Amino acid sequence: MSERRTTRAVIPAAGLGTRFLPATKSQPKEMLPIVDRPAIEYVVEEAHDCGLSDISIISRPEKTSLEGHFAPVPDLVALLTEQGKEDLLAGLRRIDELGSVNFIYQPDPRGLGDAIAHAEHHVGENPFAVLLADDLMVDGGTLLTRMLDVHQERQATVLALIEVPDDQISAYGSVAAELVEPGLMQVHHIVEKPSPADAPSNLAVIGRYVFTPGIFAAIGETELGVGGELQITDAIGTLINSEPVFGVVFSHGRFDVGQKLDFLRATVEIALDRGDLGPEFAQLLVETLKRRGLV
Ligand code: UTP
Repeated sequence: MSERRTTRAVIPAAGLGTRFLPATKSQPKEMLPIVDRPAIEYVVEEAHDCGLSDISIISRPEKTSLEGHFAPVPDLVALLTEQGKEDLLAGLRRIDELGSVNFIYQPDPRGLGDAIAHAEHHVGENPFAVLLADDLMVDGGTLLTRMLDVHQERQATVLALIEVPDDQISAYGSVAAELVEPGLMQVHHIVEKPSPADAPSNLAVIGRYVFTPGIFAAIGETELGVGGELQITDAIGTLINSEPVFGVVFSHGRFDVGQKLDFLRATVEIALDRGDLGPEFAQLLVETLKRRGLV
């Protein structure tokens, strides 16, 4: 058992966001709002709520709005205070409560493996969690907490796994794994974006990881892969040769907000969950569907 629990989180957000063009032409994908908070804020909040107090976002110098979102705004706070706009102030305070966020630049987005490699000087010889900024988990931190627990018990890298239909596996990394206890697999093999015929299983890797620092050497040994990018999946494949790698299987609460349909699904679900909007929004949805003859 390790003495201390992992406190470091790395959130890669330096990508080009091409699937969301033209919205992402001059605006980071990670800043697109889900209701009234940008996607990145949900992810930073998840890390914070799971006890990860040392949070780094991997960004690019052009993505200035990411840094702006986590910077203090004393003049705006003073104005809203003067105007007595408590509800709006609460949203700003919520960001301040997340604590300071560190920024690391990946000037040329050459893939997730490369993005994570840029965090090496910051995390050093310590384990760390990685949360992809376009994968939202609305599960009260259950998945990441379980992954951190498994990491602490086994001192090993832990991946998040979800079962997907045959025709979707080619969008993910796919693993060959054996069950070691309910909901926990040991991963023996991993392939990035396989064709359904070549996929080792329907278990897909999604955007939560807890890595041992051994991942940095593995990334260093990895060559460019699918799409000419330095794939973290390939580096995990290298890591498996020298260290055990585990996977926590989960089934719900995930939204891939880098994808248009899932972005809309996240917006609907999160809006329905909101006390201030949910009831009225539910009514609006029902009325709209009825008017269009869809229900
Ligand atoms: P994605 O592959 O989903 O993001 O990476 P992308 O490349 O920006 O999107 P598309 O495919 O062009 O639409 C998952 C996360 O990893 C970050 C992205 O910003 C995103 O939040 N990422 C990706 C990096 O930080 N660096 C990279 O080199 C690639």
